[in-house]
Amino acid sequence: MSIEGLVNPHIRDLTPYSPGKPIEEVERELGIRGSVKLASNENPLGPSPRALEALGNCTSEVHRYPDGSCFALRERLAARMGLAPDQFVFGSGADEVLELLAKTFLSPGDRVVMPWPSFAMYPLVARGMGAEPILVPLTDAMEHDFPALAKAVGEGAKMVMLCNPNNPTGTSFGAGALADFVSGIPSDVVLVIDEAYFEFVRRTDFPDSLALIAERPATIVLRTFSKIYGLAGLRVGYGISDPELIGYLDRARHPFNVNNLAEAAALAALDDDEHARRTREMNASGIEYLSRELGNLGYRVWPTDANFVLVETGAGYYDALLRRGVIVRPMAGFGLSNHIRISVGTAEENQALVKALQAIEEGGGAAAGGAS
Ligand SMILES: Cc1ncc(COP(=O)(O)O)c(C=O)c1O
Repeated sequence: MSIEGLVNPHIRDLTPYSPGKPIEEVERELGIRGSVKLASNENPLGPSPRALEALGNCTSEVHRYPDGSCFALRERLAARMGLAPDQFVFGSGADEVLELLAKTFLSPGDRVVMPWPSFAMYPLVARGMGAEPILVPLTDAMEHDFPALAKAVGEGAKMVMLCNPNNPTGTSFGAGALADFVSGIPSDVVLVIDEAYFEFVRRTDFPDSLALIAERPATIVLRTFSKIYGLAGLRVGYGISDPELIGYLDRARHPFNVNNLAEAAALAALDDDEHARRTREMNASGIEYLSRELGNLGYRVWPTDANFVLVETGAGYYDALLRRGVIVRPMAGFGLSNHIRISVGTAEENQALVKALQAIEEGGGAAAGGAS
């Protein structure tokens, strides 16, 4: 009997998402300790202390099913953003909201337009429904190529993904670019604006994508508690859209997709403005430090509005850093084998990375094995 023959062809042909290497795995493989992980755009300060306290207060309730509607979190976010509570859908990470969008809107053969390189889950969720991802290359400045995206949308797309700031480049686009793009695409194409790194953004003309929802209901904005709120391991993300669109996503959602610990921690983290402020500050100074030091080493550092930087080092640096116990994200899978993506860490972690790169260069660069 062949199991392969039983599997949906569009699932059989998927290449699974490849996450950043866990620290434990690297240390086991290399027989080292004290390695540094700057690979998954997590919060180097850890979770908000308020979130930890909230977690401690609700563990005794884990025998209960969670509140499937995330009532408290929904009300709190709606009040913060000046939106209606029925404009939110919650997921086990923004990843699950992407899955819900695919399940709700995509059928085999549908075309889904997306910038590339961008978040690796976009083509995966599209392919998982038998839809066709249309990858539109970024410009030479590593930015969304809006004329090319609009052209591809005009060729019969069902959905278009935008990622602002874009992962893995860190580049962002402003309000003017989004307004022009939106005015040139049909209103019945589902527009997904992924703002997973929204809270780190520093550009002043960042689009008010939430305002777009009222004008253009087939628009959904994605946010997450995994990044600035430091809750990646608990898995809470959400989508904000028109109530009717949200209602359809809710039909596709399984009833208890966000657990009660995750909701309690998210609520507490949301109110911890001090933790968010410290995170933002640490990130901004980390970007300044890394841009300067990596520039001094002769690498090209792309401008970033997120909590990571894309760096053109030359080939072989992912492995060379790994051998020195520094885990970054390789970019070969995006066709950028001369680049690495570095998540901004604590000041000590950033220094450890720079020291490792300096040592590699002193040893003649990654191609020479960096053996100094
Ligand atoms: C652009 C982008 N969107 C969505 C996600 C998924 O976030 P979550 O942890 O909420 O599933 C990530 C995670 O890295 C991301 O980079």
